[in-house]
Amino acid sequence: MSMDFYEAVRARRSIRNYTDQPVPKEVIQRALSAALLAPNSSNLQTWGFYWVKNPEKKQKLVEACLSQRAARTAKELIVVTAEPGRWKRNRARMISELDRAKAPKFMYPYYEKLIPFTYGFQFLAPLKWLIFNLVGLFRPIVRRPWSPRDREEISIKSAALASENFMLAIAAEGYGTCPMEGFDECRVKRLLGLRFSDRVVMVISVGEPELTQGVWGAQIRFDPKEFIHEV
Ligand SMILES: Cc1cc2nc3c(=O)[nH]c(=O)nc-3n(C[C@H](O)[C@H](O)[C@H](O)COP(=O)(O)O)c2cc1C
Repeated sequence: MSMDFYEAVRARRSIRNYTDQPVPKEVIQRALSAALLAPNSSNLQTWGFYWVKNPEKKQKLVEACLSQRAARTAKELIVVTAEPGRWKRNRARMISELDRAKAPKFMYPYYEKLIPFTYGFQFLAPLKWLIFNLVGLFRPIVRRPWSPRDREEISIKSAALASENFMLAIAAEGYGTCPMEGFDECRVKRLLGLRFSDRVVMVISVGEPELTQGVWGAQIRFDPKEFIHEV
Protein backbone atom coordinates (compact mmCIF):
# COMPACT_ATOMS: atom_id res chain seq x y z
CA MET A 1 0.00 0.00 0.00
CA SER A 2 1.48 3.29 -0.99
CA MET A 3 -1.30 5.89 -0.69
CA ASP A 4 -2.79 7.58 2.30
CA PHE A 5 -6.57 7.52 2.68
CA TYR A 6 -7.37 10.89 1.08
CA GLU A 7 -5.02 10.22 -1.83
CA ALA A 8 -6.85 6.95 -2.51
CA VAL A 9 -10.24 8.71 -2.29
CA ARG A 10 -9.07 11.31 -4.82
CA ALA A 11 -7.38 8.75 -7.08
CA ARG A 12 -10.52 6.60 -7.44
CA ARG A 13 -12.39 7.34 -10.62
CA SER A 14 -14.78 5.21 -12.64
CA ILE A 15 -12.67 3.55 -15.31
CA ARG A 16 -14.40 2.66 -18.58
CA ASN A 17 -11.39 1.31 -20.49
CA TYR A 18 -8.55 -0.87 -19.21
CA THR A 19 -5.17 -1.94 -20.60
CA ASP A 20 -4.26 -5.62 -21.16
CA GLN A 21 -2.06 -5.57 -18.04
CA PRO A 22 -3.15 -8.29 -15.59
CA VAL A 23 -4.00 -7.46 -11.97
CA PRO A 24 -2.02 -9.58 -9.46
CA LYS A 25 -4.38 -11.91 -7.58
CA GLU A 26 -2.95 -10.68 -4.25
CA VAL A 27 -4.28 -7.19 -5.06
CA ILE A 28 -7.82 -8.54 -5.46
CA GLN A 29 -7.46 -10.73 -2.37
CA ARG A 30 -6.33 -7.80 -0.21
CA ALA A 31 -9.15 -5.60 -1.51
CA LEU A 32 -11.72 -8.34 -0.85
CA SER A 33 -10.40 -8.64 2.71
CA ALA A 34 -10.88 -4.87 3.07
CA ALA A 35 -14.45 -5.24 1.74
CA LEU A 36 -15.24 -7.78 4.46
CA LEU A 37 -14.18 -5.28 7.13
CA ALA A 38 -16.90 -2.80 6.13
CA PRO A 39 -19.48 -1.86 8.73
CA ASN A 40 -22.67 -3.86 8.17
CA SER A 41 -26.08 -3.96 9.72
CA SER A 42 -26.16 -5.91 13.01
CA ASN A 43 -22.95 -7.61 11.83
CA LEU A 44 -25.14 -10.16 10.07
CA GLN A 45 -22.87 -10.02 7.00
CA THR A 46 -25.68 -10.75 4.57
CA TRP A 47 -23.52 -10.11 1.52
CA GLY A 48 -21.58 -12.02 -1.11
CA PHE A 49 -18.54 -11.29 -3.31
CA TYR A 50 -18.26 -13.41 -6.43
CA TRP A 51 -14.88 -13.15 -8.12
CA VAL A 52 -15.76 -14.51 -11.55
CA LYS A 53 -12.67 -16.27 -12.89
CA ASN A 54 -14.09 -18.99 -15.14
CA PRO A 55 -13.57 -17.62 -18.72
CA GLU A 56 -16.96 -18.86 -19.98
CA LYS A 57 -18.81 -17.40 -16.99
CA LYS A 58 -16.82 -14.18 -17.31
CA GLN A 59 -17.86 -13.83 -20.95
CA LYS A 60 -21.50 -14.40 -19.98
CA LEU A 61 -21.15 -11.83 -17.21
CA VAL A 62 -19.75 -9.27 -19.67
CA GLU A 63 -22.79 -9.90 -21.90
CA ALA A 64 -25.11 -9.55 -18.89
CA CYS A 65 -23.40 -6.18 -18.29
CA LEU A 66 -24.63 -5.25 -21.78
CA SER A 67 -21.06 -5.68 -23.06
CA GLN A 68 -20.25 -2.18 -21.83
CA ARG A 69 -16.60 -1.30 -22.28
CA ALA A 70 -15.96 -1.02 -18.53
CA ALA A 71 -16.84 -4.73 -18.30
CA ARG A 72 -15.55 -5.86 -21.70
CA THR A 73 -12.01 -4.57 -21.19
CA ALA A 74 -11.85 -5.44 -17.46
CA LYS A 75 -9.20 -7.82 -16.23
CA GLU A 76 -11.26 -8.93 -13.23
CA LEU A 77 -14.96 -8.80 -12.43
CA ILE A 78 -16.48 -8.96 -8.94
CA VAL A 79 -20.21 -9.29 -8.35
CA VAL A 80 -21.37 -7.87 -5.01
CA THR A 81 -24.63 -9.31 -3.74
CA ALA A 82 -27.10 -8.66 -0.94
CA GLU A 83 -28.33 -11.93 0.54
CA PRO A 84 -30.94 -10.97 3.16
CA GLY A 85 -32.07 -14.61 3.50
CA ARG A 86 -28.76 -15.33 5.26
CA TRP A 87 -29.87 -13.45 8.40
CA LYS A 88 -31.08 -16.61 10.18
CA ARG A 89 -27.91 -18.64 9.66
CA ASN A 90 -25.65 -15.68 10.48
CA ARG A 91 -27.61 -14.73 13.60
CA ALA A 92 -26.97 -18.21 15.00
CA ARG A 93 -23.29 -17.89 14.08
CA MET A 94 -23.08 -14.50 15.76
CA ILE A 95 -24.45 -15.94 19.00
CA SER A 96 -21.73 -18.59 19.00
CA GLU A 97 -19.06 -16.01 18.10
CA LEU A 98 -20.06 -13.70 20.97
CA ASP A 99 -18.56 -16.09 23.52
CA ARG A 100 -15.32 -16.35 21.62
CA ALA A 101 -15.13 -12.56 21.20
CA LYS A 102 -15.85 -12.01 24.91
CA ALA A 103 -18.63 -9.65 23.88
CA PRO A 104 -20.63 -7.75 26.52
CA LYS A 105 -23.65 -9.62 27.94
CA PHE A 106 -26.21 -7.13 26.58
CA MET A 107 -25.41 -8.28 23.05
CA TYR A 108 -27.04 -11.69 23.64
CA PRO A 109 -30.69 -10.52 23.88
CA TYR A 110 -30.07 -8.40 20.80
CA TYR A 111 -29.35 -11.52 18.73
CA GLU A 112 -31.56 -13.91 20.68
CA LYS A 113 -34.72 -11.77 20.82
CA LEU A 114 -34.65 -8.51 18.87
CA ILE A 115 -33.19 -9.80 15.59
CA PRO A 116 -35.63 -12.74 15.31
CA PHE A 117 -38.56 -10.41 16.10
CA THR A 118 -37.60 -7.77 13.53
CA TYR A 119 -36.24 -10.05 10.80
CA GLY A 120 -38.45 -13.10 11.31
CA PHE A 121 -42.23 -13.61 11.67
CA GLN A 122 -42.84 -12.20 8.22
CA PHE A 123 -46.53 -13.21 8.36
CA LEU A 124 -46.82 -10.62 11.16
CA ALA A 125 -45.38 -7.82 9.00
CA PRO A 126 -48.49 -5.54 9.10
CA LEU A 127 -48.79 -6.11 12.87
CA LYS A 128 -45.13 -5.18 13.36
CA TRP A 129 -45.68 -2.03 11.32
CA LEU A 130 -48.62 -1.18 13.57
CA ILE A 131 -46.68 -1.88 16.79
CA PHE A 132 -43.68 0.21 15.70
CA ASN A 133 -45.87 3.12 14.68
CA LEU A 134 -48.10 3.01 17.74
CA VAL A 135 -45.13 2.93 20.12
CA GLY A 136 -43.53 5.64 17.95
CA LEU A 137 -46.38 8.00 18.86
CA PHE A 138 -45.07 8.11 22.43
CA ARG A 139 -41.32 7.53 22.21
CA PRO A 140 -38.52 7.21 19.66
CA ILE A 141 -38.35 3.69 18.19
CA VAL A 142 -36.56 2.12 15.25
CA ARG A 143 -39.41 1.53 12.80
CA ARG A 144 -37.75 -0.85 10.38
CA PRO A 145 -37.32 -3.61 9.34
CA TRP A 146 -40.94 -4.72 9.41
CA SER A 147 -41.13 -6.06 5.84
CA PRO A 148 -39.03 -8.27 3.54
CA ARG A 149 -38.38 -5.13 1.47
CA ASP A 150 -36.77 -3.48 4.53
CA ARG A 151 -34.56 -6.51 5.13
CA GLU A 152 -33.44 -6.34 1.52
CA GLU A 153 -32.70 -2.61 1.80
CA ILE A 154 -30.59 -3.15 4.92
CA SER A 155 -28.49 -5.81 3.15
CA ILE A 156 -28.06 -3.58 0.11
CA LYS A 157 -26.75 -0.71 2.28
CA SER A 158 -24.13 -2.97 3.86
CA ALA A 159 -23.08 -4.47 0.50
CA ALA A 160 -22.70 -0.96 -0.95
CA LEU A 161 -20.39 0.05 1.91
CA ALA A 162 -18.31 -3.08 1.32
CA SER A 163 -18.15 -2.21 -2.39
CA GLU A 164 -16.68 1.19 -1.56
CA ASN A 165 -14.08 -0.39 0.76
CA PHE A 166 -13.14 -2.68 -2.12
CA MET A 167 -12.87 0.13 -4.67
CA LEU A 168 -10.82 2.38 -2.37
CA ALA A 169 -8.46 -0.51 -1.61
CA ILE A 170 -7.99 -1.14 -5.34
CA ALA A 171 -7.33 2.60 -5.85
CA ALA A 172 -4.74 2.54 -3.05
CA GLU A 173 -3.08 -0.38 -4.85
CA GLY A 174 -2.76 1.76 -7.99
CA TYR A 175 -5.46 0.05 -10.10
CA GLY A 176 -8.84 1.21 -11.35
CA THR A 177 -12.45 0.09 -10.87
CA CYS A 178 -15.89 0.82 -12.23
CA PRO A 179 -19.03 0.10 -10.21
CA MET A 180 -21.83 -0.97 -12.55
CA GLU A 181 -25.56 -1.27 -12.18
CA GLY A 182 -25.99 -1.44 -15.94
CA PHE A 183 -26.63 -5.20 -16.05
CA ASP A 184 -29.41 -7.71 -16.48
CA GLU A 185 -29.99 -8.84 -12.90
CA CYS A 186 -31.94 -11.99 -13.87
CA ARG A 187 -29.07 -13.17 -16.06
CA VAL A 188 -26.42 -12.40 -13.43
CA LYS A 189 -28.43 -14.24 -10.76
CA ARG A 190 -28.89 -17.27 -13.00
CA LEU A 191 -25.18 -17.27 -13.90
CA LEU A 192 -24.15 -17.32 -10.23
CA GLY A 193 -26.93 -19.64 -9.06
CA LEU A 194 -28.30 -17.03 -6.63
CA ARG A 195 -31.55 -17.40 -4.70
CA PHE A 196 -34.79 -15.59 -5.54
CA SER A 197 -34.43 -13.27 -2.52
CA ASP A 198 -30.79 -12.35 -3.33
CA ARG A 199 -30.03 -9.06 -5.06
CA VAL A 200 -27.13 -8.09 -7.26
CA VAL A 201 -25.93 -4.80 -5.80
CA MET A 202 -23.05 -3.99 -8.13
CA VAL A 203 -20.74 -5.57 -10.63
CA ILE A 204 -17.27 -4.06 -10.13
CA SER A 205 -14.70 -4.21 -12.90
CA VAL A 206 -11.00 -3.98 -12.12
CA GLY A 207 -7.92 -3.33 -14.22
CA GLU A 208 -5.13 -0.94 -15.07
CA PRO A 209 -6.70 2.29 -16.36
CA GLU A 210 -6.05 2.95 -20.04
CA LEU A 211 -4.51 6.43 -20.25
CA THR A 212 -6.46 8.04 -23.10
CA GLN A 213 -10.02 6.67 -22.69
CA GLY A 214 -9.91 5.21 -19.19
CA VAL A 215 -11.41 8.23 -17.48
CA TRP A 216 -14.21 10.28 -19.07
CA GLY A 217 -12.98 13.82 -18.31
CA ALA A 218 -12.47 15.67 -15.04
CA GLN A 219 -14.46 14.60 -11.97
CA ILE A 220 -17.70 16.59 -11.81
CA ARG A 221 -19.23 17.34 -8.42
CA PHE A 222 -21.76 20.07 -7.66
CA ASP A 223 -21.30 22.80 -5.06
CA PRO A 224 -20.73 21.08 -1.66
CA LYS A 225 -23.01 23.72 -0.06
CA GLU A 226 -25.97 22.04 -1.77
CA PHE A 227 -25.30 18.74 -0.02
CA ILE A 228 -23.51 19.45 3.23
CA HIS A 229 -25.96 20.84 5.74
CA GLU A 230 -24.87 22.09 9.14
CA VAL A 231 -28.13 22.22 11.04
C1 LIG B 1 -24.44 2.20 -8.06
C2 LIG B 1 -23.61 2.69 -9.21
C3 LIG B 1 -23.84 2.18 -10.48
C4 LIG B 1 -23.07 2.60 -11.57
N1 LIG B 1 -23.26 2.01 -12.81
C5 LIG B 1 -22.43 2.31 -13.82
C6 LIG B 1 -22.50 1.59 -15.05
O1 LIG B 1 -23.29 0.67 -15.24
N2 LIG B 1 -21.64 1.94 -16.03
C7 LIG B 1 -20.72 2.93 -15.88
O2 LIG B 1 -19.96 3.17 -16.83
N3 LIG B 1 -20.62 3.61 -14.72
C8 LIG B 1 -21.43 3.32 -13.69
N4 LIG B 1 -21.30 3.96 -12.48
C9 LIG B 1 -20.26 4.97 -12.29
C10 LIG B 1 -20.83 6.37 -12.19
O3 LIG B 1 -21.30 6.80 -13.45
C11 LIG B 1 -19.72 7.28 -11.64
O4 LIG B 1 -19.40 6.89 -10.33
C12 LIG B 1 -20.10 8.77 -11.65
O5 LIG B 1 -20.31 9.22 -12.97
C13 LIG B 1 -19.05 9.64 -10.97
O6 LIG B 1 -17.78 9.47 -11.59
P1 LIG B 1 -16.49 9.03 -10.75
O7 LIG B 1 -16.82 7.66 -10.18
O8 LIG B 1 -15.37 8.96 -11.75
O9 LIG B 1 -16.29 10.02 -9.68
C14 LIG B 1 -22.07 3.58 -11.39
C15 LIG B 1 -21.84 4.08 -10.10
C16 LIG B 1 -22.58 3.63 -9.02
C17 LIG B 1 -22.27 4.13 -7.64
